[in-house]
Amino acid sequence: MSLVEDTRELQVALSGLEPDALSLEGARSLVDRLRSIVRQHDHRYYVEDDPVIADSEYDQLYRRLQELEEAFPELKTADSPTQRVGGEPIDDFEKHEHPEPLLSLSNAFDRTELREWYDRCKRGLADAFGAVEPAVVAELKIDGVAMALTYKNGQLEIAATRGNGTVGENVTHNVRTIHRIPLRIPVGASNGQSPPDEIEIRGEVFMRKSEFDALNERLVDEGKQPFANPRNAAAGTLRQLDPQVVAQRPLSFFAFAVGPVSGGAPPTHDDVLQLLNGLGIPLEEHTKRFEDFEALLDFCEGWVERRDSLDYEVDGVVVKIDRHEYRDELGTIADAPRWAVAYKFPAREATTTLTDIEVNVGRTGAVNPEAVLEPVEIGGVTVSQATLHNEDYIVDRDIRVGDTVVVKRAGDVIPQVVRTVPDARTGEEEPWTFPDECPACGTPLVRLPDEADHFCPNSECPAQFKRLVEHFVQRDAMDIEGLGEKLSYRLVDLGLIETLADIYRLREEDLLPLEGFAEKSAHNLLTAIEASKDRPLSRLLFALGIQHVGKTVAETVVKHVSSIHELADTTAEELGAIDGIGPTIAESIVDWFAVPENRDLVADLESEGVNVQRQSHEAPAEESQDLPLAGVTVVITGSLPERSRAEASDALERAGANVTSSVSGNTDLLLVGANPGSKLQEAEEQGTQVIEVERPDTFDRLLTDGL
Ligand code: IVH
Repeated sequence: MSLVEDTRELQVALSGLEPDALSLEGARSLVDRLRSIVRQHDHRYYVEDDPVIADSEYDQLYRRLQELEEAFPELKTADSPTQRVGGEPIDDFEKHEHPEPLLSLSNAFDRTELREWYDRCKRGLADAFGAVEPAVVAELKIDGVAMALTYKNGQLEIAATRGNGTVGENVTHNVRTIHRIPLRIPVGASNGQSPPDEIEIRGEVFMRKSEFDALNERLVDEGKQPFANPRNAAAGTLRQLDPQVVAQRPLSFFAFAVGPVSGGAPPTHDDVLQLLNGLGIPLEEHTKRFEDFEALLDFCEGWVERRDSLDYEVDGVVVKIDRHEYRDELGTIADAPRWAVAYKFPAREATTTLTDIEVNVGRTGAVNPEAVLEPVEIGGVTVSQATLHNEDYIVDRDIRVGDTVVVKRAGDVIPQVVRTVPDARTGEEEPWTFPDECPACGTPLVRLPDEADHFCPNSECPAQFKRLVEHFVQRDAMDIEGLGEKLSYRLVDLGLIETLADIYRLREEDLLPLEGFAEKSAHNLLTAIEASKDRPLSRLLFALGIQHVGKTVAETVVKHVSSIHELADTTAEELGAIDGIGPTIAESIVDWFAVPENRDLVADLESEGVNVQRQSHEAPAEESQDLPLAGVTVVITGSLPERSRAEASDALERAGANVTSSVSGNTDLLLVGANPGSKLQEAEEQGTQVIEVERPDTFDRLLTDGL
């Protein structure tokens, strides 16, 4: 029977059930079934990213399990899906001695070094096995924290960090909160295969880039220090003493090896991975076995460019000899095996000269130092500017003008100066001091006692206003196409934009005299400005540039107010009571509306025709019957552009749709992304309406306009 059928049967058994009316035995059998089903849905959702029931159905099952465990406390077990976050914060971590050391890897930096490694392996095997071309398995090298998970009789007993390889730290209480790590194996039917009595599974705990961004956004919203990169975020989270905190910071896990296995490990690495997969342990999906070493080399090099397409940081490819017999013959030197090597991607760092330090005024008045660099190429891009964050960053690292510095650029992150190279100093380098005055308006800068940033306190500072205009018109805000950084600065300099509302007062005759404008381009810009008047309220709220009000915060706030006027009259207490809005954000919003000029601005924008009301799709689902997709049952297949499946489902549900996972007679609509599955054929057979989502705006239109 399929998981969906199993679930339906269980749902029937549970409907109208009163826990009190059950015998202990009756309850036990239901609890067992519920746990097994909930675990399998967790696996579909977290590991396979392909849920087969709606979130609301899952929640219902989970709640039922909780109710039964409440009614029959004797049935509670540590491996129940309800027991992920349990217990009190701990005082300190216990040490954990690894039964077998966790090894590290030697590196290869190019094709030649990889080939040399392979040739050494072949020579090492020649005596015992003759001339062999051993098959290898290539895995992406995930940049996270190594973790050893010990399962005894199918239960997760210990999770420990690598530490020095011999002794690590016991972080079980934290790792239990990671939904992608099963508390019990196998997950679901064992396919007749029973798990080893004891098995140690090794892998990497890491944070996805998307989840890292969301976490940092939240930390900043809460007035806390963000993490420098996903690796630090994962390591820092694992070191938390309070599992409640860990549970709110989504971590992920991929396994890449086993330690001791009772009854012995299977004969090849490929078999190990299959065993793990069968137990329901998450594996990185791009792992590949190669018989042909040249093809492996192409695979490794191919990932240098592709790595940014992943939602997690990878810093290389780990290449491992597949057969364990061969591995045993090759053995280990120091703490690295001869049978494996890490092909490291080219560095994203380079050294260059810091020729000057400039300060930049942001839209909130924050003044931040920026390094002017001798242009240098990093990973194919020329970098001539990099952030220096703030005064302390420069002082702590003793960064001086004229220094040779290490600059790092990763993906689409702003390049940053990481450190200086003091050995390269000539004595000519100049220590730098933070300017006393705003470079744009001359107002004395302030630095508050607990803050790292300097501020220009002048709310009429032209530099701040330019940045605000740039922020207001950007794609995620009012999305005014054609009004980029350069043009908005020019319009401010010319005095054509003095308040944000002036954008809506621009006329063709203002634009035509400007260089580069003809009738058509002026007309296009004015049309884009006109179109931006209808943006949702949350976009406007974000666009206003209120401190701490990012996109997510704006969307959250708007669910609780029907117009900007209602927001203007909301107190800090009322705002603070909203889930996800802390006191800092609440006060920042109230302070903003307390400024008369800001209230005038809102009135001005409204009189120019800018939407200040909440639109129906922004409202919380229960309040609105007339959402664009109300009553529409939607199924998704394939991957949609620019959105994860979870994000897409969320957005559809907010627009009123009922998102389910399999096509049935009740399905009204199938959304088809790239690489669709069999659902497409099913929908075509059923005659269900199908929409191909090739571009994000097709999806957006569906959300706003409905079918
Ligand atoms: S194998 C003997 N495989 O890289 C094998 N390690 O530099 C030792 N890592 O501590 C590890 N992805 O934390 C292996 N697919 C992968 C890996 C991987 C990431 C990490 C691991 C290890 C470090 C070694």
